[in-house]
Parts: sequence; structure tokens; C-alpha cells
Amino acid sequence: MKGIVLAGGSGTRLSPMTIPVSKQLLPVGDKPMIYYPLSVLMLAGVRDILLISRRSDLPLFQRLLGDGSQLGIRIGYAAQDAPNGIAEALIIGAGHIGEDPVALVLGDNIFHGTAFQFVLEEHARDVQGCVLFGYRVKDPHRHGVAEVDEQGRLVSLEEKPHRPRSNRAVTGLYFYDNDAVDIAKNLRPSPRGELEITDVNRGYLERGRARLVDLGRGFAWLDTGTPESLMQAGLYVRALEERQGVRIACIEEVALRKGYIDSESCYRLGAAMAGSAYGRYVMEVAQELTG
Ligand code: TTP
Repeated sequence: MKGIVLAGGSGTRLSPMTIPVSKQLLPVGDKPMIYYPLSVLMLAGVRDILLISRRSDLPLFQRLLGDGSQLGIRIGYAAQDAPNGIAEALIIGAGHIGEDPVALVLGDNIFHGTAFQFVLEEHARDVQGCVLFGYRVKDPHRHGVAEVDEQGRLVSLEEKPHRPRSNRAVTGLYFYDNDAVDIAKNLRPSPRGELEITDVNRGYLERGRARLVDLGRGFAWLDTGTPESLMQAGLYVRALEERQGVRIACIEEVALRKGYIDSESCYRLGAAMAGSAYGRYVMEVAQELTG
């Protein structure tokens, strides 16, 4: 399965912070926002990833993540010249996706919960149609909204509806089989002028090929779109990390635990950042998991 992290957009709600730098490079806790969605793909077992962002921001992401080889993965880069909609990622990424299924994640989505890795691995295996991940929210009108019937089957999908039919938001993580590229290429822009990911998902739903996996109430799906939510997400991450002494979305640790790199390489990555608590954590994890 190929992976795409979409990290473009205009970030207008976070202006002026997003004037010089992409939203997805702003810190959440002690690491850049992009680490969270990147670690989701890595946990799902996806090792060939395309990062899409504004052309002017691409060198910054490249400076941070390089070609991914230090993490035992491959990271390529492509530009989205204007925020033409999330579904455009499937068109920009068509060459990268090739004949494979694809996991698309939004660069500003933060997921955290028990056994998430197993949920991801289970659903990433042999994707037929599309797999969406639903999460109960109190403000569904701000999201794509999924309605399910009593058997838990998906019956409707709406984009930012005035009168939502349920409280279930569709989160920014989507698993698709290879049809997604053609579906995206045949989309018409919405009245907002965007290629809407909800229309791709509806394409699958109309063919009876869309599934929704519910992320339960013990799960966290955090927003980072406004200064308040960005700060709250940072506090959430810090509270968990301080209490448990483990880090969320430490990409070096994920790479080591998944067997993408060995403990020596992991230690070296940490040592290069030994001036920070994050770097020292990476060194400790590498020492703990030696052998
Ligand atoms: P949004 O939160 O809808 O938009 P934004 O990030 O530009 O922020 P604002 O509303 O403050 O202007 O986007 C959701 C995510 O999808 C975010 O990570 C940006 C990304 N995105 C793109 O990369 N390209 C796009 O064309 C769109 C619409 C979104």
C-alpha cells in the first residue's frame, strides 16, 4: 500500500503563524505536527510515502524528513499549487500510487488511542473499496458526516451539512483501493470550487463499496486548526507524555518498533538531537530495545 500525507492548505485560521511556515510544521507538544500523521502511516505498515504541500514549503519538509531512509521508509515530495481540495491529492499522487491501494492522511490530523496500530494494520491489509474512520464529535456540521444504519452499515455521507444526520465525523484518514484515482479524476469541483474528498467517498458508497470503522469514545482525534485547538492538542500530548513517560508519534521509535531500522541507527538519530528531551528519549528507547 502506498501512502500520501496531504500537508497543503492555507491555514488561514492560524494566521499570522502560517504566513512564513506551513501549519503542519508548527509544534504540537515537542514535535512538528506532521510527525503525527506520518507515524499513523508508518504504524499501518506503509513505507512508501508522498508528502504533498505548497511548493514554497516543500524545502522545509525536505529539510526535516529528507528521503525517509533514516527511518527505513521512502518519502517523496510533490506540490499542490493551490488548495483545490483534498481529493486533488489522489490526482497529484496518481503516479506514486501506480496500481496499488493508497492510505491518504491529512497532515493536521492527530489520532491517539489504544490498539490503534492493530486497527490500522487490520484494515490496511487487502483494502477493497474504501475504509473511512468515524469519530463522534459535538460539532458535526464542521466536518464530513457519516450516517450509519442499525447494523452499522454506512448509508450516507455529507460534506459540512447544515443539518447533520448524525454526530459521526469522517476523520482525515482514508484507505482506498486503486479505483480512487479514477474516481478523483472524474470529479467536478464543488460549489466551493474544490475537489471534495467526500465526493470520492460517495463514489464508493454509491457502488456499495464504502465501509466506516468507528473509532470509539476512548479514542482521541484532535483538531489543530485554530490557535485554541492547537494549544489544547499540545497540552493533551504533553499530559499523556508526562504521565506515562512515553511519547506519542515519535517517528524514530515507530521506525524501530516496526523493524524499519535497527537500534543502533535509532540511537544515532537520537544522539544527533541529544540537546533536547525528545532526542534523549529516542536514545533511551534505542538502548531499551537493543538486542
Ligand atoms: P482545512 O482545515 O480545511 O484548511 P486549511 O488547513 O487550509 O486551514 P484554514 O481553514 O485555517 O484555512 O484543511 C484540512 C487539511 O487538508 C489541512 O491539513 C490542509 C489540507 N488541505 C490541503 O492540503 N489541500 C487542500 O486543497 C485542502 C482543501 C486542504
